[in-house]
Amino acid sequence: MITFNTTTKTFHLSNKQISYIMQLDENKHLVHLYFAKKIHITDDDNNQLLFGHLDYQYFKGDRLVNSYKAKEYGSYGTGDFREPAFVIRQENGSKISDFSYVSHEVYQGKKSIEPLPALYVEEEQEAETLAITLHDSLTDTDLILYYTIYRDYPVIARRVEFIHQGKEPIHIERVMSMQLDLADSDYEFIHFSGAWGREKQIVSSKLRWGNQSIASTKGVSSAEHNPSFILKRPDTTEDAGEAYGFAFVYSGNFLCEADVSTFNQCRVNVGIHPVNFSWKLCAGEQFVSPEAIVMYSDTGLTPMSHNFHRLFTHRLCRSQYRNTDRPILLNNWEATEMTFDEEKIMSIAQKAKEAGAELFVLDDGWFGTRNDETQGLGDWFANTTKLPSGISGLSEKVAELGIGFGLWFEPEMVNKNSQLYKSHPDYLLQTENRHGHSFRYQYVLDFSRDDVVNYIYQQMKAIISTAKINYIKWDMNRYLTEVYNVTLPPDEQGKVFHKYMLGVYSLYQRLTQEFPDILFESCSSGGARFDAGLLYYAPQTWASDNTDANDRVAIQYANSFFYPICSHGAHVSAVPNQQTTRTTDIQTRANIAYFGAFGYELDLNELSKEEFEVVQQQIAFYKENRTVFQYGTYYRLVSPFENNVGSFMTVAPDGSKAFAVYYQRLYKPNTEFINLKLKGLEAETKYQVSLLGVDKTYYGDYLMNAGISFNSSHIARNGGDFTALLVEVTRIEL
Ligand code: GLA
Repeated sequence: MITFNTTTKTFHLSNKQISYIMQLDENKHLVHLYFAKKIHITDDDNNQLLFGHLDYQYFKGDRLVNSYKAKEYGSYGTGDFREPAFVIRQENGSKISDFSYVSHEVYQGKKSIEPLPALYVEEEQEAETLAITLHDSLTDTDLILYYTIYRDYPVIARRVEFIHQGKEPIHIERVMSMQLDLADSDYEFIHFSGAWGREKQIVSSKLRWGNQSIASTKGVSSAEHNPSFILKRPDTTEDAGEAYGFAFVYSGNFLCEADVSTFNQCRVNVGIHPVNFSWKLCAGEQFVSPEAIVMYSDTGLTPMSHNFHRLFTHRLCRSQYRNTDRPILLNNWEATEMTFDEEKIMSIAQKAKEAGAELFVLDDGWFGTRNDETQGLGDWFANTTKLPSGISGLSEKVAELGIGFGLWFEPEMVNKNSQLYKSHPDYLLQTENRHGHSFRYQYVLDFSRDDVVNYIYQQMKAIISTAKINYIKWDMNRYLTEVYNVTLPPDEQGKVFHKYMLGVYSLYQRLTQEFPDILFESCSSGGARFDAGLLYYAPQTWASDNTDANDRVAIQYANSFFYPICSHGAHVSAVPNQQTTRTTDIQTRANIAYFGAFGYELDLNELSKEEFEVVQQQIAFYKENRTVFQYGTYYRLVSPFENNVGSFMTVAPDGSKAFAVYYQRLYKPNTEFINLKLKGLEAETKYQVSLLGVDKTYYGDYLMNAGISFNSSHIARNGGDFTALLVEVTRIEL
């Protein structure tokens, strides 16, 4: 998969689908030649790719060629005026560097960078890694660029390491995990942006001269911008055309930018945001960047999403649950918030069991003096006034019902009204002599400190190891402010944001290793940390605090571009919806929540008898079909961002079954017919299609090309506005 031509000094990483080519120039600098569909190159070819067949000689020599050259990892200050991949500062203040090629190594497989999350291999032959060592002699620093190519995916995983040997320290002030110089800029930049309660709206704009970026400086990847984006050709669709998908395997501050020169070259950078980042390296020390990955597709966006789903499910998630059926859970948050006692909780759990649910999750409010938002965070021991038998007793009682027990934690946070704060006021992130900003009365613990992480680990471990816990919801409900570590010297404060993330990952690593049977779900006020980084440790994420079916259609649709369906936590909640006050039918709510890790977020005791029976049927139905929903091949059919309707579907791994949801926002009377064209079926196979209680038989090619025909009035008869229909498609076995 990886070759080096010693005559042309060209590296070629390729599999059946892609080629990634780079070359050493006359100064032993690494120039980028090509990354797209698989090609072959001769000894002459590579120069053509660089500057055009005839102009190459012209650009040689002492001209300022740096600003035209496509770089693998561009430096600052020597004539390349685009956004650099990295900046290192010497003690004398100089930021100039000159890293040139020293050696390279190719090895089978891929090394772990834990606690940092990264793609992995299960067998060495699945992937090959190229490590190219560059050296800056003035500072005596090595820079190693890592590239992994997988045999079966059109993907390249990249990261870098700096290893410093010089006597004087250096300071890394910017470090991208990936730089990719594309030869032209005829792309649309698609990203997933929003805010709390309206995460991941799809935003698309044509690239233009200048810099376009998405970023977070909030200490978490954030609800505002997800660290994933697509560059696609203007005519690329779901089913055809070229696209690159970029994902940063990291959950903290990030920068994803496309810097387009007035020569229409496009430089892509993906890495830790340089704001308030500075990493001092002394002799013998090393800095390891997070990983960034880029997927190529020349067959449209749907195959790209399929590759991300497969890759993330099988080679990013580490949990034993990564490809097993996820339990149907009931979470008490929207039912009780923090006002409950053991009797109330048991009545909710008991009813969940009667409905057929498999796991009961006790959310916020079970610990310390946590009776409202102002207190208790940080005190991870049971509130025995509310729960006299503690978490261990409660978990036993839930286990006796015959269902699993899950527990909510917010490990990174503290209220000032807590025992933790009283005994360790120095554990906060705080800037000396400055006001510390709270949010929801809570402050952020300084997870850049090992002692703080260790303290929380001990507290969590004490609860987890003395109770029957099958699931943990790890929440994180505010962004970071006053980021300063009171134990670090001034010239190491630029490390704190990143060290904080390392602390979070290391706690995840310890807990997931020690308690491998626990299913972790990450959450950050809903989807503010729904990123590839956390998927490594927590195979599912609470997609949004907004559980309104109307809004979830869009959020789940957008999530599907990168994240596998089994990773979206999706629950049916009570109506009117807590966030939007909208009322939707209970079947509509379920029809959308089925396309995820399904559950409920309400007190089933409060449903009518009829509604409760509907819930029992929904759970029985989901148990029978959940593999199709969670691990089927997923297709986006109609975008809810551009239409009054939204539709998506999933086809069982063995092709025997498919489900499509068709959601209509507002009912308009007497409209034209809809032809819903399905995808992913076998053309010449017959299927039975069940819709609104009517069964008919069609060939797969009919369903995919002519479509299922119905109109808005059919939907209106089943609820009018805000109605989702489920289409069940069953292969007729001969
Ligand atoms: C966040 C989560 C909710 C719930 C509350 C509890 O908002 O997203 O699901 O757990 O915290 O405080």
